[in-house]
Amino acid sequence: MLVAPSLLSADFSRLGEEVAALEQAGADWVHFDVMDGHFVPPITIGPRTVEHCRRYAKLPFDVHLMIENPERTIEAFRDAGATMLSVHVEATRHIHRVLDTIRQAGLRPGVCLNPGSPLALVEPVLHDADLLVMMCVNPGWGGQKFIDGSLDRIKAARALRDRLNPSLDIEIDGGVNAATGRQSIANGATVLVAGSFVYSHPQGKKAAIQELR
Ligand code: DX5
Ligand code: ZN
Repeated sequence: MLVAPSLLSADFSRLGEEVAALEQAGADWVHFDVMDGHFVPPITIGPRTVEHCRRYAKLPFDVHLMIENPERTIEAFRDAGATMLSVHVEATRHIHRVLDTIRQAGLRPGVCLNPGSPLALVEPVLHDADLLVMMCVNPGWGGQKFIDGSLDRIKAARALRDRLNPSLDIEIDGGVNAATGRQSIANGATVLVAGSFVYSHPQGKKAAIQELR
């Protein structure tokens, strides 16, 4: 399993150093939460921030777009140094085309699903994605509680993945701590995103990542 700490809980005035610190602490990927004030209420960062962070670490950049019209920004995030680029199925009418465009751009495509959306929405495109991002909170903020019922959804997603695309990663995003992380992996997840757990751990980031493993 892989651990992808989310920068959402980091100090935004020094993101470059925060990315370097995550690499030092043993993160597998760094998770960037991009929010536009429309798809979700907050506004966070864009491609220029990702580009500047790219100088500070070599590990894969896992970019989670919580934005409307994600198709307009694919090249900008590619040029900025993203590795994975994930779009919400709820944010586009043309998820199949967007995933295809992301792959054509040379990035690994991911599809994200909100807690209130049926798994069937992503089933037709699981074959076209490298990553399925299962939201276990409603996107927009760090530090929320893992939603009950998410574990059953993860189990169902894992069954679909085994049938349709065994190389698909299943990434759990929102409310991950040592307990919900362990349960998610037991139900078939392959990647854990964690923001507040990593940044509020009393023994620091390295201990938090080790505890998740
Ligand atoms: C929520 C973001 C998550 C969030 C996770 O909108 O997509 O990546 O930062 O934060 P925690 O781990 O605190 O729930
Ligand atoms: Zn995220």
